[in-house]
Amino acid sequence: MARVILGVSAGIAAYKSASLLRLLREAGHRVRVIPTADALRFVGEPTWAALSGEPVATDVWTAVDEVAHVRLGQSADLVIVAPATADLLARAAAGMSGDLLTATLLTARCPVVLAPAMHTEMWEHPATTANVALLRKRGAIVIDPASGRLTGADTGPGRLPDPEELFAVVQALLARLIPAGNTVLAGNTVPAGNTVLAAGTVPAAASLAGRRVVISAGGTREELDPVRFLGNWSTGKQGYALARSAALRGAEVTVVAANVELPDPAGARVVRVVSARDMHAAMLAEAGIADAVVMTAAVADFRPVARSDSKIKKDGSQPDPIALTENPDILHDLAGRRAREGQEGQVVVGFAAETDPDPQAAQAKLARKGCDLLVVNPVGNGRGFGSADNEAVVYSREGSQTPIPRGSKEALAEVVWDLVAARLR
Ligand code: PMT
Repeated sequence: MARVILGVSAGIAAYKSASLLRLLREAGHRVRVIPTADALRFVGEPTWAALSGEPVATDVWTAVDEVAHVRLGQSADLVIVAPATADLLARAAAGMSGDLLTATLLTARCPVVLAPAMHTEMWEHPATTANVALLRKRGAIVIDPASGRLTGADTGPGRLPDPEELFAVVQALLARLIPAGNTVLAGNTVPAGNTVLAAGTVPAAASLAGRRVVISAGGTREELDPVRFLGNWSTGKQGYALARSAALRGAEVTVVAANVELPDPAGARVVRVVSARDMHAAMLAEAGIADAVVMTAAVADFRPVARSDSKIKKDGSQPDPIALTENPDILHDLAGRRAREGQEGQVVVGFAAETDPDPQAAQAKLARKGCDLLVVNPVGNGRGFGSADNEAVVYSREGSQTPIPRGSKEALAEVVWDLVAARLR
């Protein structure tokens, strides 16, 4: 159970934060909602009070005897402001403290997450860009808004990520808050005296600030006819956990997603594809400017030689066998592209789903694919595909093995990024 402050500023997306609040409460967290006065025009005080089970105030003149404007920030484990409007970002960047939310932001010593939502013009305005840069420099985690339909008929960057995604961000950050002396994130030890990691909650050495990463996720589909395909059970959960985690470490993240039905990962740009050949083209196009590429997608090795234009019907006779032809090996081609383009510093990571993992076979596969790291995870019997948990051994080009014990897909993502960050240094 953590003490979470949910700040809400005056954007139309405030209604999504009611769902976020529910998710946080259902996870057992104690949540204090601090709306701005104008935010209450969108969602009223009774909604926040009823869903949180806590009093709601917007100004510093309520419960003065409790010195709420100082106490709330000081005692929180995490503050998230969703939506964070352009005005709220400007006031936070200027260090203003005229209401309870901005005063709380000034007194908080815990991780602070800001989830901006506004019209594209406001998000792209140089004033907002400068405010976001300043807040990030000071340690706040600012999640890039999603792209899509905005309040009017317009579309573009500026949407608040889905509540499930914001909840996943909160959970991922809270999972990193651990007592001093404990070891987290594959070998990074919390300095004595600290109870939480530094402002961004990721040690500088493991940060991906300023890095560009491209991640493939999901399972490709190879069409047989207009209604059928050859596919697999990948849901994209592992890839999206990697994307979320990289965004929280400050990376610019692009996800090439094959048939994923999850909400877009917070802070990432999503390129949608269907087949292995689509993914091949998208990954090679995106990889050119990336510092790291990670292939978590389950890619069909083969596709039907021919796709029928009409639905294949049964006619009582024995059906023809499906003739298959080989798909391009994307991971292999990414490693080849890197060498060809002189981008030797780029880190290339593959995943391998194995029903019977074997170290020798893993090392041979890594060499065959030409990647730097191969994350070998056991699959089958409810493991790997679609599950919330995962476990793996990460093999490196140099021959090292890093076991990752069973835990959440987010926890596995953290270790992978630690290993990637170490190679990028
Ligand atoms: O999405 P989830 O439900 O969360 O499940 C996650 C996962 C189990 C799919 C994921 O953790 C995983 O193991 N992904 C790799 C699955 C896989 O296809 O492994 P593979 O052994 O077939 O391929 C090895 C590597 O080569 C992979 O990085 C794969 O993306 C890549 N590959 C494979 C074939 C191909 N034609 N091109 C490729 O790039």
